[in-house]
Amino acid sequence: MLQPEMADEAGVGLPPWRLLLRAARQREGRAPGSGWLQLATMSAEGCPRVRTLVFRGWSAQGELELLTDTRSEKPSDLLHQPRVELCWLFRKTREQFRLRGLARIIDGEQGREALEQHWQRLTPRGRAVWGWPQPGEGFNPEGPWPEQIPDGAPKPEVLALIRVKLERVEQLDLKPHPHLRRCWLRDQGWLEQHLNP
Ligand SMILES: Cc1cc2nc3c(=O)[nH]c(=O)nc-3n(C[C@H](O)[C@H](O)[C@H](O)COP(=O)(O)O)c2cc1C
Repeated sequence: MLQPEMADEAGVGLPPWRLLLRAARQREGRAPGSGWLQLATMSAEGCPRVRTLVFRGWSAQGELELLTDTRSEKPSDLLHQPRVELCWLFRKTREQFRLRGLARIIDGEQGREALEQHWQRLTPRGRAVWGWPQPGEGFNPEGPWPEQIPDGAPKPEVLALIRVKLERVEQLDLKPHPHLRRCWLRDQGWLEQHLNP
């Protein structure tokens, strides 16, 4: 199989589930939430944590990319346990994808260029949250609470990229009878396995 970075525009060379994900995302169109997925991590105390994030794209190596704030809990969760699961629901196609893999945090030092590109690609409104006080602390009415951060503003030190190297992907499609459930494993060359739903 070709490496993801060698895939062409039509997706030739991509793992089969990437094409299914792409089709589900296209079907969802501009519906709010089409790029929202849930990221589950394990806290340092061994408790599960789950929250919604925005899908930010794929790295050249085919890792799933997310953006976060170094001051949130995700980075410390991932230092203790890099194994994660993501859940992505597509309402129009009635499909669920569950994606397991190993996550790493890339902050200012190692990933300056990639972070800079992501930062410039954000909308002014999208950038604003990285200008807010420490997430999860008691509410501070003094802020600062910018509503927008304009194009050209310097990338904040607290911006971090999460790259997830996926090891197992599972799809559940509720359209057919019986429901279609299948999975792909990286160490089997993403060979498709059909499962009971
Ligand atoms: C629709 C939606 C999208 C979100 N997108 C992101 C995101 O891309 N990155 C992020 O760090 N938090 C995002 N959040 C906030 C997280 O869900 C979470 O509240 C925050 O990151 C703190 O989580 P933590 O302390 O467990 O790390 C989003 C929340 C919602 C409701």
